[in-house]
Amino acid sequence: MTSDKLSIAVFGASGRMGTSVIELLKSEYAGRARLEAAIDSHSGNLDDLAKVTTVIDFSLPDGTSALVDWMEQSKNPLPNLLCGTTGLTDEHYSRLRKLAKTTLVLHTNNFSTGVAALSAILRYASPMLKSLAYDARMIETHHIHKLDAPSGTAKTLAQALDPLGPDRIDIESVREGEVVGKHEVVFTSAADQISIGHNATDRTLFARGAIDAALWLDQLDESSGIYTMETYFQARFRS
Ligand SMILES: NC(=O)c1ccc[n+]([C@@H]2O[C@H](COP(=O)([O-])OP(=O)(O)OC[C@H]3O[C@@H](n4cnc5c(N)ncnc54)[C@H](OP(=O)(O)O)[C@@H]3O)[C@@H](O)[C@H]2O)c1
Repeated sequence: MTSDKLSIAVFGASGRMGTSVIELLKSEYAGRARLEAAIDSHSGNLDDLAKVTTVIDFSLPDGTSALVDWMEQSKNPLPNLLCGTTGLTDEHYSRLRKLAKTTLVLHTNNFSTGVAALSAILRYASPMLKSLAYDARMIETHHIHKLDAPSGTAKTLAQALDPLGPDRIDIESVREGEVVGKHEVVFTSAADQISIGHNATDRTLFARGAIDAALWLDQLDESSGIYTMETYFQARFRS
């Protein structure tokens, strides 16, 4: 008997994020999705991806490279790919865009819809505040185990603040304790400040966002294309 549950492989399965995705798949999402494979560098097998319709990647850039290598060489229909790994290079993005010609790919530096909403707010507010002579800067704070700085989310928010020159936004990276992920944007004029930000207090936020986005991607009519969390956010919450 075939199941209509989404069959999912988690890549980066033993990590903080992979563990969180797996726990949710086995509990809250058990009626809608099932964990078919759990893969990382010391357990599971990339060939298990041939059995699934979706792979959720929360690994490290080398892991994403290995995953994309496998997908590029696969002779089977490819699973949809939801990639949350941060610190990716231009080469990674170019390979993800190429893969998106044959399957559905969603990469995001932040799977929370709160950050997608913040991004949309900044895209709207930033030109207005700039014309009123406010300067924007950002402070991002994460746990001490995080390898990349500035965070991928900070880079995404900088893109929303200044689409033509995200590198112009001054970003301060703070690493302390077990902070899940905090981003604060401060607009400063000669006489006042406006602050707006997002504070993730539990990483299930990202895990839940990834599974929700996977379920959404699976019901699209398209079989290929590249998506972001902002496109998902707009389709789900604004239509
Ligand atoms: N997009 C989002 O919403 C979001 C949210 C939070 C975190 N992140 C990002 O998600 C990624 C994972 O975060 P984390 O905190 O879970 O990290 P982590 O705890 O260090 O876990 C990393 C996982 O990736 C696996 N891995 C590393 N290199 C690999 C390789 N070459 N091949 C296969 N597996 C490999 C590790 O397995 P081994 O131990 O076997 O190497 C481990 O299971 C990071 O890039 C982080 O910045 C994204």
